[in-house]
Amino acid sequence: MSDHLLNRRKFIKAGIAGIAGIAGSACLRHVSAQAPQPEIRLIASPGQANFSAGQKTATRVMHYNQSIPGPVLRLPQGRESVIRFENFLDESSSVHWHGLRIANAMDGVPGMTQAAVEPGESFEYRLVPPDAGTYWYHSHQRSWAQLALGLAGVLIVEEHNPPPVDQDLVFAIDDWRLDDNMQFDRNSLGAMHDWAHGGRMGNVITVNGETEKTYHVARGERVRMRLVNIANARVMNLLFNEPEISVIAIDGQPVEPFTPAGGKIQLAPGQRTDLIIDMSADPGQRSLIEVVIGEYAYEVASFVYGQNVQREQALAAPIRLAQNPLQNNRLPREFLHVHMVMEGGAMGGMRSATYNGREMNIRELVKNQKIWAINGIAGMSETPLFRVPRGSAVSLDIVNDNSWPHAMHVHGHHFIYHKAPGIWRDTALFERGEQGTMRFIADNPGKWLIHCHMVEHMAGGMVTWFEVS
Ligand code: C2O
Ligand code: CU
Repeated sequence: MSDHLLNRRKFIKAGIAGIAGIAGSACLRHVSAQAPQPEIRLIASPGQANFSAGQKTATRVMHYNQSIPGPVLRLPQGRESVIRFENFLDESSSVHWHGLRIANAMDGVPGMTQAAVEPGESFEYRLVPPDAGTYWYHSHQRSWAQLALGLAGVLIVEEHNPPPVDQDLVFAIDDWRLDDNMQFDRNSLGAMHDWAHGGRMGNVITVNGETEKTYHVARGERVRMRLVNIANARVMNLLFNEPEISVIAIDGQPVEPFTPAGGKIQLAPGQRTDLIIDMSADPGQRSLIEVVIGEYAYEVASFVYGQNVQREQALAAPIRLAQNPLQNNRLPREFLHVHMVMEGGAMGGMRSATYNGREMNIRELVKNQKIWAINGIAGMSETPLFRVPRGSAVSLDIVNDNSWPHAMHVHGHHFIYHKAPGIWRDTALFERGEQGTMRFIADNPGKWLIHCHMVEHMAGGMVTWFEVS
């Protein structure tokens, strides 16, 4: 009953929004998803950004299409989109489509799936994303610098039938290390101290590139919110002060809707969560979205309730997203077991590791900016961690044998993380000392990375690869 009413109301609202030029409604998007897709241009360049209206001197950044974060790309599910990446930086770059199960040649890993895109050059990415949902894209070249400087954006693969909501909001959270004049702290880029500890942590948190992001809502509205952690290294412990919240997707993939306990949602670097929020405060109210760091909660964004009331009675029927093709994957009982011991870092006690085929003690490793290892190997190896025929069931049996948490990411595949059976993820947080599994069907041919998404850890050696034939 409510669905029908909602659709009709939405349709009227879409008309008005269309006139005002706000492409924010499911109806408008639905129409556009049917139309042929024009080629998208994505241009990386150095530039400037302001994180708040009152900022005196703009921050020098690197950005896509002159925007921090990059533009929200909306692609149709199951059909090809062409994205022309043009590099106007003065260093090489590439674009990785985080979480998309696409063809290996489009994965954006320089030196493995393509050559780095040199300054003044371009590369055409042809993406056919099989699964709808919330993803993101970012530089995969010197990402510890290029990601920190701003080369990241949100990517949405549209459902064939998007669930009816009043607003579809993006929440891309990032942190920046800035000085008192809001200038990017370049001197500390590449600092081994960060690499050996938790990665590069910032002192300014932004949401969609703003330090005081406000979302305008109305009581009774049903809002979809797509949370994406695009920070280099910070695990974001978010606190929503809205009672009517449900999680509908994780790392792009639909889940059985549930209410997060206490409004808390944890996002490790690279992770996403889609929420449905039925806005329930009174007109004129403000409710905060906070990040909890230690004993404190910091306001990073807020919902500001207008004077109008969208509907008196909040919608009760939960939203369940349609299954993606990924959900047809069934894990068997038997796996190829691949052991992965993650070592290194400060207070880790690693004495030596192999780098570039040579055993090195910790001093030599540090000279080569390597401080992390997987199975005793720091950085990329000549041969893959494992090689399997297409369709093999793989269990990564992980021991996080060091003093730090790590956000482990697998390219081109989603896996089941041992602590959350039934949920397909592409990035999972392993706490210090944690032992567990990431299990998946290796069904996408090619060469794929596995690495920590605290990108300083990846650069510092916590990266390996596998091959599906
Ligand atoms: Cu989000 Cu290898 O990356
Ligand atoms: Cu790590």
